[in-house]
Amino acid sequence: MTDTAWPGEGIDPERASAARIYDYILGGGHNFAVDRDMAEQVLDVNPDTRRHVQQNRAFLRRAVLFMMQQGIRQFLDLGSGIPTVGNVHEIAQAADPRCRVVYVDIDPVAVAHSEMLLADNPNAAIIRADVARPDLVLRSPVTRRLLDFARPVGLLALTIGHYLAPAQQPFGIFAAYRDQLAPGSHLAVSHVTNELTGNRADIVAEMMRKAKSNSVFPRNRDEVLRFFDGYQLVEPGLVTTSRWRPELPEERLGDAGADGQYAGVARKP
Ligand SMILES: C[S@@+](CC[C@H](N)C(=O)[O-])C[C@H]1O[C@@H](n2cnc3c(N)ncnc32)[C@H](O)[C@@H]1O
Repeated sequence: MTDTAWPGEGIDPERASAARIYDYILGGGHNFAVDRDMAEQVLDVNPDTRRHVQQNRAFLRRAVLFMMQQGIRQFLDLGSGIPTVGNVHEIAQAADPRCRVVYVDIDPVAVAHSEMLLADNPNAAIIRADVARPDLVLRSPVTRRLLDFARPVGLLALTIGHYLAPAQQPFGIFAAYRDQLAPGSHLAVSHVTNELTGNRADIVAEMMRKAKSNSVFPRNRDEVLRFFDGYQLVEPGLVTTSRWRPELPEERLGDAGADGQYAGVARKP
């Protein structure tokens, strides 16, 4: 995407966005110079960030497939991002084309590209919304059309909790989603932490704040566990992304600390 070619409403090409920074680090082309500059600064501070996003996407795939093994066929993906390789509907519908997916993102570039990708897919759609407004997300006609809340839902909250400020009461937001889910629903979370990478997560958070990009709020393990209140964590519990039910043997997984994020999946009893 060139810096001037995007006519989308609500896009500020002078201000880096989390969605486009993430897209750049994953090797995508839907980003502006300001995003690439910020991404390079982030990579300078923490060169492990590329591994961090790749491990996160790999965790997403394993979490979706695990939920499908538990019988789940419908997903609500909070802060879904700019479409990239291995989006939730691609993973799920490859295994069962009847799977239904609702994506939610606030970023207009993420929403516009998702709309294009999903135009011919009757079982998947995106809504532009603030995930901090569960009432609006859950009441959206798109959500209501595609998801049946009488049956278990896979709630995906990967690399989204740390964009919610303490003042927004993020645990209350997650509880509001949980309360609308049927028993047997599952929640997957990945979340940036300042416990694995020295103070680098805090330095990146400060850079993003100064640049008036999305604010990031790294959390410690006990805080991340609170997102799972009211659920039961499945094995192996809350670990780093690469350690959650890995497909590779331990000796080929690399440094867990370099994952930069905690990750887990839990079931609503
Ligand atoms: C780093 S990307 C993660 C994409 C995907 N969930 C993943 O893990 O690969 C975070 C996404 O969250 C979105 N986001 C941040 N705050 C949000 C909010 N309050 N409401 C909706 N989306 C939000 C950003 O626009 C971005 O697309």
